[in-house]
Amino acid sequence: MTSELTHEQQMIQSMVREFARKVVATTAAERDRTKAFPIENIKQMGELGLMGMMVPLEYEGAGADAVGYVLALTEIAAACASTAVVMSVQNSIVCESLLRYGTEDQKKKYLCPLAGGEIIGAFALTEPHAGSDPVRQTTTAERNGNHYIINGTKRFITSGENCKVAIVTAKTDDGARHKGISAFIVEKGTPGFMVGHTEDKLGLRASDTTDLIFEDCRIPAENILGEEGDGFRIAMSGLDSGRIGIAAQSVGVARAALDAAVRYAREREQFGQSISKFQGLRWIVADMATEIEAARQLTLSAAAMKDRGEPYTAQASMAKLFASEMVNRITGKALQIHGGYGFTKDYPVERYFRDARVFTIYEGTSEIQRIVISNHIFKDKRQLRTG
Ligand code: CAA
Repeated sequence: MTSELTHEQQMIQSMVREFARKVVATTAAERDRTKAFPIENIKQMGELGLMGMMVPLEYEGAGADAVGYVLALTEIAAACASTAVVMSVQNSIVCESLLRYGTEDQKKKYLCPLAGGEIIGAFALTEPHAGSDPVRQTTTAERNGNHYIINGTKRFITSGENCKVAIVTAKTDDGARHKGISAFIVEKGTPGFMVGHTEDKLGLRASDTTDLIFEDCRIPAENILGEEGDGFRIAMSGLDSGRIGIAAQSVGVARAALDAAVRYAREREQFGQSISKFQGLRWIVADMATEIEAARQLTLSAAAMKDRGEPYTAQASMAKLFASEMVNRITGKALQIHGGYGFTKDYPVERYFRDARVFTIYEGTSEIQRIVISNHIFKDKRQLRTG
């Protein structure tokens, strides 16, 4: 596939690979242990143009395409999945929503510092009782003169603690199903906007996941993103791009797990020889490499469709579904190859195993991806060309 990449895409890949290996990977295990947010990495990534990669240069982004973004995110994920999820949310659902729906003033005020990596953004859709079904959210935004007043609680928000600005969805018309949901830009420090409980997670431990609480939080009416009623569409289209990102994260972590398993298999001797000589192990490794390549191609293909301006919702879901399920199989096998050592913190494979677990859950569970894909099959077969 490398030969099919443009010169620019190859440059992005090798630059980010070097940065990820030298800077991000070396501190990943420590971050996993201490849960320290990767602020220094993120700062450097901002300087390298990695926090708003697909945003045009005029808004302080890197002006890269989606394929270049996938390549970069894969490299960061192979080094540290916690750092990768912060990059992924910022690039896709936060920056892209502002780029697509923001006014010129909103772009100057919020998109520029986000894309330049000067500040971190969050997207707040999920609620305690509305995860897979965000239409049932109960957060409200009531118009009051030149303001909206937001009330409600958002849950599982990536970068909730560390963000300076959040895009928050809320009901503006309770009777209008998805058309009653709007999106708002809310700055940290606005009275009535609080960070609640921080989750203590199995994996991605250095990325903060929090509740965001809104109590009579008054924001200027001009901070609505798009029009009233656009919130669900903004979230869904942002998630299309986000799901390619989760697929890229899955490919990165899977590749790191395979590399670790191969390294260990070469060194480990049992029954008088390196365990890498046993056919039983070699066939497992062959299957692992094949699955990773299949997921990588699916992810790059969805990204290329996005770059060509084609509808890519179903392909993003396919890439996310396949890659996230794949990485859970791969990290399990990589851990098994390590035997008892794989179960300890002396080797990175147990971290890969824990980090990968959420990939089949966040930004839409595997079950939700199957709903999206099957809806496209039954509604419009033209979107699912088989070549
Ligand atoms: N792009 C643009 N619009 C879209 C769309 C898309 N991909 N998908 C649906 N829509 C529009 C439809 O066109 C429709 O609009 P109209 O009526 O105007 O035509 C409207 O949205 C409703 O569509 P559906 O009837 O298909 O919606 P639904 O209520 O049946 O839900 C769903 C569909 C696929 C189940 C959706 O609710 C969904 O994706 N759920 C999962 C949510 C999710 O991924 N949550 C994760 C949150 S983020 C996170 O994980 C945390 C983090 O920070 C990392």
